[in-house]
Amino acid sequence: MIGIFDSGLGGLSVLATVASVLPHADLVYLADTAHVPYGDKDDAFIRSRVLRIGRHLVDQGCTVIVVACNTATAAAVDALREALPDIPVVGVEPGIKPAAIASKSGRITVLTTTATARSERLFRLIRLHAATVQVEILPCPGWATRVETLQLDDPGFVESVRSHLAPALHTGADQIVLGCTHFAFLTSALEPIVAGHAKLVDVADAVARQCVRLAGASALGHGRLTLLATAHPERLQAALPTLGLHGLTGKLAGPARLSHA
Ligand code: DGL
Repeated sequence: MIGIFDSGLGGLSVLATVASVLPHADLVYLADTAHVPYGDKDDAFIRSRVLRIGRHLVDQGCTVIVVACNTATAAAVDALREALPDIPVVGVEPGIKPAAIASKSGRITVLTTTATARSERLFRLIRLHAATVQVEILPCPGWATRVETLQLDDPGFVESVRSHLAPALHTGADQIVLGCTHFAFLTSALEPIVAGHAKLVDVADAVARQCVRLAGASALGHGRLTLLATAHPERLQAALPTLGLHGLTGKLAGPARLSHA
């Protein structure tokens, strides 16, 4: 069984891709909705949640863990790997490398939460893979909460997104990296804003390929999906159609359940 978690709905974008490449794997998705958003919390708090959820998923029988959250990966993937030495842990990090390779203008912008924006792990990723391009880190506070409340294309919000991105597009950024899994659900708002200027870069496919490499026997199950949330599990399940994830409802092993992780 593969356990996938995020602070809330964002990691569902990763879950959907993993489910499509590993159709027979049994999947557990845990949304830490009692503590969403992670992006405005301090690193020690995020780390304690990640360790607790990781251990909980292993107790449920997961043999591979996917941290479907850039913020949690930045703050705690090393600690989780140390705490669970026998479990393959897949993290999610912004697609700095593919963006740097694809950029023709030599300017890329990475959209993140506030916590990811200050993380040493992100700075390291940039030093390692984007030394020859200019990288702007653009924190986007409040965007994850928009996704949580399913207000995805509210006109006032779309306008605020447009002004937030305008300076980056104006200075020639041609790759906009989605450095938060929640932002994958904002692509219909973002696409028209960046069209003709820049491409959106998402890493969900690369994460899914890594899961295929590490899945081993967990690839072979009944293709069932269990949804868990630390608050309002019914909202997690109800969000699937709004987020365009109707396909996942057919895999549900039962109604979404409250988790005490
Ligand atoms: N989905 C998360 C990420 O990828 C976190 C968003 C949040 O909870 O602030 O960073």
